[in-house]
Amino acid sequence: MWEVAKRPRVLEAIVADTEQLRFPMASEPKTGSLLRLLAASKPCARVLEIGTGTGISAAWLLEGMDDASTLVSIDNDAQCQEVARKHLGNNPRVTFICQEGEEFLKSVQSQRFEVVFADSWPGKFSALELALKVVAKGGYYIIDDLLPQTNWPAGHAPRVSQLVSELERQQSFVSLKLEWASGLMVLVRVR
Ligand SMILES: C[S@@+](CC[C@H](N)C(=O)[O-])C[C@H]1O[C@@H](n2cnc3c(N)ncnc32)[C@H](O)[C@@H]1O
Repeated sequence: MWEVAKRPRVLEAIVADTEQLRFPMASEPKTGSLLRLLAASKPCARVLEIGTGTGISAAWLLEGMDDASTLVSIDNDAQCQEVARKHLGNNPRVTFICQEGEEFLKSVQSQRFEVVFADSWPGKFSALELALKVVAKGGYYIIDDLLPQTNWPAGHAPRVSQLVSELERQQSFVSLKLEWASGLMVLVRVR
C-alpha cells in the first residue's frame, strides 16, 4: 500500500491537539493529499471549506494553494475550530468563520469559489444546491466519507446512495467517484 509522501509540517501538532480533544471526524492523509493536489491545480483560487473541524484538511488545502489563493473555512463549533485558529490562524491566506453552514452559504450565493470542500452536513446532505451554486466554472466540488463505514448510523447508507445519484444527475457538472481514502467524489462545473 502506498503511503502519502510529504505531509504539511504543521499537521503533527494539529493531530496531537485533535486527539487530545477526542475529535473523531478528521480527514485522513489520502484525502488531504487529494485536496492539496486539487488546490494546487487552481492558481489564484478562492477556496471554500464547509466544516473546518480542527483544521486538518485546511492544512492540506493551504499547502496546495499558491500565494495568491485564499481559503475561507467555516464551522459552527467554536471549540474544534479553535485548534485550527491556533495552528493556522497566523496564515494571511486563511479566514476562519464560526457560523451555521447553511446560513453562511446563503450569504455567499453571489460569490464563486474555484475549490469547494463540503465536509459537513450542510453543503452535502442539506443545502446541496446552495453549495453547488457557488462553484465557479471549471471549479471543483469535493466530498468524502462515501464508502460504507462501521460508525455510520442506521439509515445513513441509503442517504449516501441518494446523494451520489443526485450528484451524478447534475447537468452542469461532470463527476468522478473515487475509491480512495473514505470514498470521495469530485465534480467539475462545466457550465
Ligand atoms: C467531518 S468534520 C470536518 C473535518 C475537517 N474538514 C477535517 O477534514 O479535518 C465536520 C465538521 O462540520 C461541522 N458542522 C456540523 N454541522 C454543521 C453546521 N450545521 N454548520 C457548520 N458546521 C457544521 C462540525 O462541527 C465538524 O467540525
